[in-house]
Amino acid sequence: MSEQAFGTTEALDQALCSAVANRLAEAVALRGSATLVISGGSTPRELYRLLAKTSLPWQKITVLLADDRWVALDHKDSNERMVRELLLRGEAASAHFLSLAPVYPDEAANLLQVEAALTQLPTFDVVLLGMGLDGHTASLFPCSAEINHAMTTTARVAMTQPAAAPHRRVTLTRRRLEDSRWGAVHIVGDEKSRVLEGINQDTSEASTPVAAFLPPRGHFEVWQAP
Ligand code: 6PG
Repeated sequence: MSEQAFGTTEALDQALCSAVANRLAEAVALRGSATLVISGGSTPRELYRLLAKTSLPWQKITVLLADDRWVALDHKDSNERMVRELLLRGEAASAHFLSLAPVYPDEAANLLQVEAALTQLPTFDVVLLGMGLDGHTASLFPCSAEINHAMTTTARVAMTQPAAAPHRRVTLTRRRLEDSRWGAVHIVGDEKSRVLEGINQDTSEASTPVAAFLPPRGHFEVWQAP
């Protein structure tokens, strides 16, 4: 497993910000545009603040979430609200943001609209995933009844209902998220490190969805701090 381990979260955030910025700049230079997929939760908040201060051709970069809570976009738990507050400002204000809940609360219409929008996007250039202690990533929750569908479907987006976490979720699927040039699982804390240490080739993807993105099955790197 390709790991980047840092002594502090500050060092981790600064190094990951640089790595993401370099890959986005390279993508724009090579292909004229870039796509950045980011996650919610608390871990990446400072990273997003740093990215918002980073000079990039943001007008050529599409930003979208790997998942969101199925709540109004001004709800305190909305990942989109967090991204608009922390990332889509300053240098990054000109980025093109693709919402996962453009027609909330109409779930059926939203799935159709987001699926269509995702169909227009090429392979992702950068995907940043978080992880929970249950091995979930994005909103691919092992405790949700929809996990087998979300881990195997060729659809690009799905709804999941975690049993052990708040809110119904809208999430990119495993197949869509793995269609990426570079990805990182961004974690902080020894408990999460221990979860990753326990992953091996016998680990069930439905029981530990993050395992699908890490070697030997996936190509994502682990970027971590204590
Ligand atoms: C979400 C995230 C989720 C998150 C993990 C880790 O919507 O909550 O996308 O997958 O990355 O739960 O969250 P923390 O960073 O808060 O531990």
